[in-house]
Amino acid sequence: MTAVRSESTELSASSASLRFPPGFVWGAATAAYQIEGAAAEDGRTPSIWDTFSHTPGRVRNGDTGDIAADHYHRFRDDVALMADLGLGAYRFSVSWSRVQPTGRGPAVQRGLDFYRRLTDELLDKGITPVATLYHWDLPQDLEDVGGWTVRDTTERFAEYAEIVAGALGDRVPYWTTLNEPWCSAYLGYGSGVHAPGRTEPESALKAVHHLNLAHGRAIGVLRSVLPATAQTSITLNLHQIRPLTESAADLDAARRIDAVGNRVFLGPILGDGYPADLLDDTAHLVDWESLVKDGDLAEISRPIDLLGLNYYTPTLVSDGRVQTEGPAAPRNDGHGASDFSPWPGSEHVAFHLPPGETTAMRWAVDATGLRDLIQRISREHPGLPLMVTENGAAYDDYISPEGQVNDPERIAYLHGHLSAVHQAVSAGADVRGYFLWSLMDNFEWAYGYSKRFGAIYVDFGTQRRIPKQSAHWYASVARANVLQD
Ligand code: NOJ
Repeated sequence: MTAVRSESTELSASSASLRFPPGFVWGAATAAYQIEGAAAEDGRTPSIWDTFSHTPGRVRNGDTGDIAADHYHRFRDDVALMADLGLGAYRFSVSWSRVQPTGRGPAVQRGLDFYRRLTDELLDKGITPVATLYHWDLPQDLEDVGGWTVRDTTERFAEYAEIVAGALGDRVPYWTTLNEPWCSAYLGYGSGVHAPGRTEPESALKAVHHLNLAHGRAIGVLRSVLPATAQTSITLNLHQIRPLTESAADLDAARRIDAVGNRVFLGPILGDGYPADLLDDTAHLVDWESLVKDGDLAEISRPIDLLGLNYYTPTLVSDGRVQTEGPAAPRNDGHGASDFSPWPGSEHVAFHLPPGETTAMRWAVDATGLRDLIQRISREHPGLPLMVTENGAAYDDYISPEGQVNDPERIAYLHGHLSAVHQAVSAGADVRGYFLWSLMDNFEWAYGYSKRFGAIYVDFGTQRRIPKQSAHWYASVARANVLQD
């Protein structure tokens, strides 16, 4: 067997209290389709996730987001729970289908009003709203005319951004254009494990470019509509990629996955254009010259105020032409893994499960990946403030006979990853905040309700909420701005 690199996955222990910088933002995150429910209320029409989840065989147990955590009707109670937990900020997403059901034309006021009520409630409790415009739920009507594979969707997105910014700009200080465009493009159009479920490598790369362009266009709109103090950003699920060995072939596999998974977003968004090696590696799949029009790169690289990072687990790769032993990474989930062949550029790459402990997703627990990722971005892009917009873990939580949900593994996971953030900050990284994924258990995409990421347990039969032990633990860290060892 080829040896796995013997890098320690433990952060060095220290007995000190770890104090975070003054003003560090402590939050929790969710996304509209994962929690809201009320799928056909107040003018909302189907998004690609409604269609996908209602297609037999697409989502585990046939689960859908029709009701989800019923947050649309219970948002006041949910905000009260956030306040009890002392959260400083709440990251949520706006459902495009609620606000502009066909993806074009006039806005639906009742849809916008929901987000006005939600943000009023947050502000009333002293919780800062952090809005994401797009967390994967494209209006189905737009998919029917090509979705993210067509350029027109970028214009539609800019129009939608203008509507939402016009309605909420007076109350939301942090704005994110897209959440994890990697997943929208590669899982949606490449491997097909996410909506809209297409398996077309060329479409996946076209989607990447159109998502980048949609982001840039939306940044232009946000800048012209929002107050000057608003902070704009995009959230990427950058992969902390590690080669299985130091062989030239494994290093090259890591380079290719870094190009198609990370630099394809970072390059154009941060002003360096598409990386030359990516264009070479994928030239057989897409005609980049006709895809990227004059002026696109200038739009995509409009300045952002913050970069959001979502991190769960590292990505271990090797040259797929060399036989190795040991477990493969779980397939198709967007975090650190994925050995699906339609992912462009991965034809000769094998994905491995890193050694050690895993979560209920079979994702390796390795906080050094978060530290290394933050340090890499800080080194390569000095002066760009960062925010950890998602981090967390799924475990098989259950209610004890005493009515509690005790989740020591999640506490250990969060502790390790917060230490990692602290290490990176101590080494000079400018990290402005941390958002736990997720505020509450929710619809985990293709896994349906079978995976629980919440700090708050949701009984989906009764919609009862029970803050887990980890929620109380996180609240005490957030309140003190200090992580105790
Ligand atoms: C990232 C996504 O943004 C979120 O929607 C998802 O639930 C988590 N990862 C966990 O997979």
